[in-house]
Amino acid sequence: MGRGGWLGLVVAVGVVSSFAATPRGVPGNRRTPATLPWMNRTDSPEQRADLLIRAMTLDEKITLMHGVSPVPVHGYVGYVPANSRLGIPAITEADGRAGVGNGATQVTLLPAPIAAASSWDTHLLNEYGKVLGNEEWNKGTLVALAPSIDVVRVPEWGRTFESYGEDPYFNGRMAVAEIRGIQSQGPLANANMYVTMNQETNRFRDDSIVDERTLHEIYLAPFAAAIQEGHVGTVMCAYVQTNDNYSCQSADLLTEILRNELHFTGWVMSDWTATHSTVDAVRNGLDQEMPGGKYFGAPLEAAVRSGRVSTQLIDERVRQILVPMFRQGLFDHPNRGNWSADVRTPEHTSFAQTAAEQGTVLLKNAGGILPLGKNDSIAVIGAAGGSHPKAEGAGSSGVKAPFIVSPLDGLRKAASAGATIAYADGSDLSSAAEVARKAQVAIVFVQTDETEGEDRPNLRLPGNQDQLVETVAKANPRTIVVLDTGGPVLMPWVNQVAGIVEAWYSGEADGNAIAAILYGDVDPAGKLPLTFPRSEEAVPTSTAQQWPGVDGRSIYSEKLDVGYRWYDATHTQPLFPFGFGLSYTTFRLGHLEIAPERVVPSAEFRGVHVRVDATNTGQRAGAEVVEVYVAQPPANGEPPHVLRGFAKVSLQPGETKPVSVDLDRRSFAIYDAAVRRWECPGGVYQILVGTSSQDLPLHGNVRVIPSGSQPGQERSKSG
Ligand code: BGC
Repeated sequence: MGRGGWLGLVVAVGVVSSFAATPRGVPGNRRTPATLPWMNRTDSPEQRADLLIRAMTLDEKITLMHGVSPVPVHGYVGYVPANSRLGIPAITEADGRAGVGNGATQVTLLPAPIAAASSWDTHLLNEYGKVLGNEEWNKGTLVALAPSIDVVRVPEWGRTFESYGEDPYFNGRMAVAEIRGIQSQGPLANANMYVTMNQETNRFRDDSIVDERTLHEIYLAPFAAAIQEGHVGTVMCAYVQTNDNYSCQSADLLTEILRNELHFTGWVMSDWTATHSTVDAVRNGLDQEMPGGKYFGAPLEAAVRSGRVSTQLIDERVRQILVPMFRQGLFDHPNRGNWSADVRTPEHTSFAQTAAEQGTVLLKNAGGILPLGKNDSIAVIGAAGGSHPKAEGAGSSGVKAPFIVSPLDGLRKAASAGATIAYADGSDLSSAAEVARKAQVAIVFVQTDETEGEDRPNLRLPGNQDQLVETVAKANPRTIVVLDTGGPVLMPWVNQVAGIVEAWYSGEADGNAIAAILYGDVDPAGKLPLTFPRSEEAVPTSTAQQWPGVDGRSIYSEKLDVGYRWYDATHTQPLFPFGFGLSYTTFRLGHLEIAPERVVPSAEFRGVHVRVDATNTGQRAGAEVVEVYVAQPPANGEPPHVLRGFAKVSLQPGETKPVSVDLDRRSFAIYDAAVRRWECPGGVYQILVGTSSQDLPLHGNVRVIPSGSQPGQERSKSG
């Protein structure tokens, strides 16, 4: 993997091409002649785009504004043909949330994004983006359709595994890291799905009814970060409607918010068949229809010829596509990759395991049952542990894994030579109990089948898996449950088992990663990026009006109380809280320092510096995440406290290190819908520091002296 930037890309391509079949590039692509006026690299991307637009016919412009369906070349799910007259490369778009999708072979299957996010490690997410971006690029992809950054509002959401979790700030940090990683390797990234794509039920029509403040503070926040800090090249507008209009034709979402407020300078493509109009969509801000030209092909050309759409508007849309292409170097460094190349590297394969290990969350470890001894006799129970490892979710994010190491194989490989490791697939409860009884430790692997296109009907484990866990736990009190799920599940047996590990959909290295964690070769250091509820009723979206909606409308009546915010606001005890995760060692935080303690959030505001000492108080090396939450003054009408910073620190036994987190101005702001601005109301803001959303032992205060609204965040008057 390269180190980022174009130098990194050259190195990476050099390494990978030795694996590749014959890197011949995407059909139709040729090097753009250097003599063309827009090929002068000393000009800015904007100047180069303008020169090119001047040379384009209307037909050529329209061609750039929609895909061709079916895709005429092998692979890619989205394709805009090359223009050889002008040297515009084919725009090849491929799925891939956890690896290159769309049926590509010889690729790396990474753990699901929810697993990677559970590392709470932005460096890891950056590497994740680099692996993905590098493999996409070497497959010939110009736009990698990742990451998926919507906030998980509904725990049953079928695409929870593709997201990072339930907190908007957290999702923003992960998005920025992954986008930078992807774009450092060649392709443009794609922030999706914009916006309020929070359920699969009725996903092509559902109307999310959400107030402006909630929209800004919760659902837009990850996109704001992706755009302003991640500099993402493309955004995908979603299937759903938001406040009575489809995302891909909403002037409010696409022009007012995306362009005027968030200053997005890349292009908006529709999700596949999410375009619903020609004139409305193009006027209101859609740049590219995917996958075909139903609205942006002949009908758009006709609309221009009849004067319903101006040529200036077409130029503006085409410019939004070309500027990020020039900025990313897609004209200057043509992609020589191709779909049949083997894009794996030994580094990618080993990263897939590291990411799976780092994302694993230890939820319960009664009596220190874990880590296991390598001589222990073990019963592996459940199909996910042996015959059918559950390494990924389903839908367009699906990856053809080159291999999947089952937990059974992983454990057998890691165990001492003489150790017995028996297996029962769990289809027969009495034989599972029998196998469990004979072993020193029983490990039950359970799973959910999560997929795009369908929400889970409930939060229970499907089939007989709850019964299986209870049966095994009765047969052997030393029972550990490993969850191969993409989101939260209920655990009616939580008090009957000794250990619980959330391993998520952990990619091709599944069994190797779980063996490393269970045997303690790697210390579990992941934390939950979403809340696990105690019951189906005790969730923020428990009414039918909220989810799955009534008469095609889902009412976001919980407003700001999404995820842990709702549990705290309603004093509802979760099963496992947001931010929670155990280790094989123990930690203590102390010596909280906050500076300055009085701030004026004006243009000169430099942030509030939070510092604590973290100590490893146990006998093993490990890593802890320091989480910083802000509780706003009650008059601000915010949830009790929200995450505004975090940092992960590795510590040897007995070691103490200072950990610093900087709080930005947004940490002290609310979105005032009446004036459509972010405001920092004066008052005392409490800073809470700890190791989960419900374990925040260190407190301090910051007094905010009001200074009015934040410059640069206002909507432009012209919008
Ligand atoms: C999904 C997108 C995906 C697209 C292309 C859609 O159904 O919602 O996430 O990128 O298909 O496969």
